[in-house]
Amino acid sequence: MVQSCKVSSSKASSSQKSSGKASALKKSKTSKLASKKAAPNKRVAASSKSLPSNKILVGNCIERLKELPDNSVDLVFADPPYNLQLEGELHRPNNSKVDAVNDEWDQFDSFSAYDEFTKAWMAEARRILKPDGAMWVIGSYHNIFRVGTTLQDLGFWILNDIIWRKSNPMPNFKGTRFCNAHETLIWASKTGKSRPTFNYDSMKAFNDDLQMRSDWLLPICNGGERLKDNLGKKVHPTQKPEGLLYRVLMASTNPGDVVVDPFFGTGTTGAVAKALGRQWIGIEQDKSYIEAAEIRLSKVRPVSPEDLQALKPKRSAPRVPFGTLLELGLLEAGTTLYGPRAKKSAEVRADGTIQCAEQQGSIHKMGAYVQGLDACNGWTYWHFKADGELKPIDLLRHEARNQLGLN
Ligand SMILES: C[S@@+](CC[C@H](N)C(=O)[O-])C[C@H]1O[C@@H](n2cnc3c(N)ncnc32)[C@H](O)[C@@H]1O
Repeated sequence: MVQSCKVSSSKASSSQKSSGKASALKKSKTSKLASKKAAPNKRVAASSKSLPSNKILVGNCIERLKELPDNSVDLVFADPPYNLQLEGELHRPNNSKVDAVNDEWDQFDSFSAYDEFTKAWMAEARRILKPDGAMWVIGSYHNIFRVGTTLQDLGFWILNDIIWRKSNPMPNFKGTRFCNAHETLIWASKTGKSRPTFNYDSMKAFNDDLQMRSDWLLPICNGGERLKDNLGKKVHPTQKPEGLLYRVLMASTNPGDVVVDPFFGTGTTGAVAKALGRQWIGIEQDKSYIEAAEIRLSKVRPVSPEDLQALKPKRSAPRVPFGTLLELGLLEAGTTLYGPRAKKSAEVRADGTIQCAEQQGSIHKMGAYVQGLDACNGWTYWHFKADGELKPIDLLRHEARNQLGLN
């Protein structure tokens, strides 16, 4: 969907050069604590805040989230530091070095420091969500259990935990443990009373008419999608695959919704949101990642609004009773209706029933009766003849909704 881009090696590799950056980050860690105490003064009055849509906000997400209005966004997607606690270098059997995540931004002094950090950004994320809003957080065994506890402690309501099974995981080179082949995404609504967006019917159609399950098989980010610098080095150590965000956003947002990613990295969430006609706001503290994200986002071409039209949930279609077809003149009393392949037939009566031999009843009851079943959807079972063809009466219901302005 989005092409790879090259960023200047000096900028991209600046994230790896630790000396200057480490001190800047240390500073931001210290200021994080300081700013927590200063929070009430820093808070801008809710009414004066506005949503900077389709922009990357530079800086510490805890501070930048505070600038966004209460109850204003539909979804938060967060890919926070995992606190991987990697010790030493990791090598493959051929002794080549594994490009592991050992960046300063992923390091915390202790579990409690990580918990404090999680609580601080998550509380702000919850505040900005609309009452029916929801949040996704992705993580691994290193952090996801701590993240889940904090989510529940803050009042979020867990809807699902999704297992992202990687089709091409990195092996466990030392052979000391199982191959770590998945990550977990927690999907949670703002409160237990929220009614978050879930495009159930679309996701079922997406999955060949099978209810989508909570285990997703997707490859890790590689190939043309992986952003590289001029030297062919990865721009970001943990760039997420667009396929993952595609599924998340298709399932839990609608076109025009506002999606916030407080750990924007190279902007995977923004790139997919832009392509799918969603609004996005990214927060990131590392300038080299921001530069890569901006180039990437400038290349994304949004899908046309017509192509974004989602399947309307059947249960939300307004109810139109069979009798309305008679009232609107779409069917007349005396018309013959047919079962599939015209093996059964029935006559429409003026009172909205249909009659087959000695039996009379609703389209549903008679559909069940002629098939010897307990129940039947008469709208799809019964057909009318037009231009020598059999067409389901459901088409007339659709026309009735059009005429009543209900579609
Ligand atoms: C796991 S990565 C996200 C990668 C991103 N999903 C992608 O596909 O490129 C986490 C990102 O959060 C950023 N980050 C870490 N702590 C932050 C903070 N306090 N405020 C803002 N950004 C932060 C890091 O620089 C890093 O780019």
